[in-house]
Amino acid sequence: MSSHGDPIPMTSRRGGPLRGEAHVPGDKSISHRSLILGAMAVGETRITGLLEGQDVLDTGRAMEAFGAEVINHGGGEWSVHGVGVGGFAEPDQVIDCGNSGTGVRLIMGTMATSDIAVTFTGDASLNSRPMGRVTDPLALFGCQAVGRAGGRLPMTLVGAKAPVPVRYVVPVPSAQVKSAVLLAGLNAPGQTVVIEKEATRDHTERMLAGFGAELTVEDTDEGRVITLTGQPELTPQTIVVPRDPSSAAFPVCAALLSEGSDVLVPNIGLNPTRAGLFYTLQEMGADLTFENMREEGGEPVADLRAKYSPDMRGIEVPPARAASMIDEYPVLSVVAAFAQGQTVMRGVKELRVKESDRIDAMAQGLRAAGVEVDEGEDWWIVTGRGFGNVPGGATVESRLDHRIAMSFLVMGLATEKPMTVDDGGPIATSFPIFEGLMTGLGAGITRTNRP
Ligand code: S3P
Repeated sequence: MSSHGDPIPMTSRRGGPLRGEAHVPGDKSISHRSLILGAMAVGETRITGLLEGQDVLDTGRAMEAFGAEVINHGGGEWSVHGVGVGGFAEPDQVIDCGNSGTGVRLIMGTMATSDIAVTFTGDASLNSRPMGRVTDPLALFGCQAVGRAGGRLPMTLVGAKAPVPVRYVVPVPSAQVKSAVLLAGLNAPGQTVVIEKEATRDHTERMLAGFGAELTVEDTDEGRVITLTGQPELTPQTIVVPRDPSSAAFPVCAALLSEGSDVLVPNIGLNPTRAGLFYTLQEMGADLTFENMREEGGEPVADLRAKYSPDMRGIEVPPARAASMIDEYPVLSVVAAFAQGQTVMRGVKELRVKESDRIDAMAQGLRAAGVEVDEGEDWWIVTGRGFGNVPGGATVESRLDHRIAMSFLVMGLATEKPMTVDDGGPIATSFPIFEGLMTGLGAGITRTNRP
């Protein structure tokens, strides 16, 4: 989908406590990968708990365009009949990945070593994001790309006829780039090696191994060295998608900020490459606990309990933690506005090339709500005003960015005056049940009547 229809302005206001259980949807990263790897396996992969957000639905449609059969059985149950590694057919239409950088970059990697030509496009947000970070390493396999200035979509990729394996050091901390190279390596003969200096989310590695690929990971002086042996036959899997820690962040932070709240967010994956926000909140003094810690599918899982936490203080977030909470900085900056003192966030240049420039989007909205923010290219500092002291009362732009919209709606639950976002529509890309889930907990979130 290249646009999501009429804007949906939404307003949030301070009210009673949030109470109850928040059952957040399936993990977005794992959902994309389940569909893509299912399409590369031979036979039927069954998926339970798939995130049915627009981003993932767009990836499912794309897999069908490449020849896989994707079936929705209802209630989060899906199956994919894959075509096998190297079995992708050439789609007869443009592949529209909507708002999803993960979708388009992983799919580009997956088709880059097949002898097919594919044109990709997306919405205005996606079409402004850099694709060179993926097409540069894909060129090493023999894949050609022609797009708009600055390596932007729409863009056509012509996959390699005779792919060669690649050794690639990922120049930016990006799981999407790492994954694109690994997925391309699947259909190249021999060993593809990807080296990342900073560990990013490792779902692709874990899932490739689960589907039967030969893959090793070593920590060396050079970084994390991932070696994949190409042209395996992937075995279809039964996948239970864990709930998304990045979605859990919103009800958790809303509970910390709303007086009298006590919210349980069950079954959240605490994979160390994803859980940085929760440790950061604990260091800030949040009343956030991990209950019923256990292992599921080889991953640590817990029920998160978040209670109103009026005594939080700003901290310097360790830059080494950035990759493990990269999607959570917008909502962290909201919590920081209510803490005492400064929250310093460094080493976060990647935030500038997400669905929006997230430092700029949050800084502008926070300032409009009366909060001081300083920023540089790869850092920003929020000066907290303490509870009961954040004015709010602003209308902010969500900039086609789901996490910007949700962050400001969380903010308005604790500001003096309500906060309005100009368009809550993008929330459906990753958290389609956000509105109902939050109001079910007692949050004062409403659709705003337009004049
Ligand atoms: C994702 C990787 C991250 C993250 C995105 C999902 C993934 O992007 O921001 O929401 O599933 O691989 P980068 O790889 O660009 O950091």
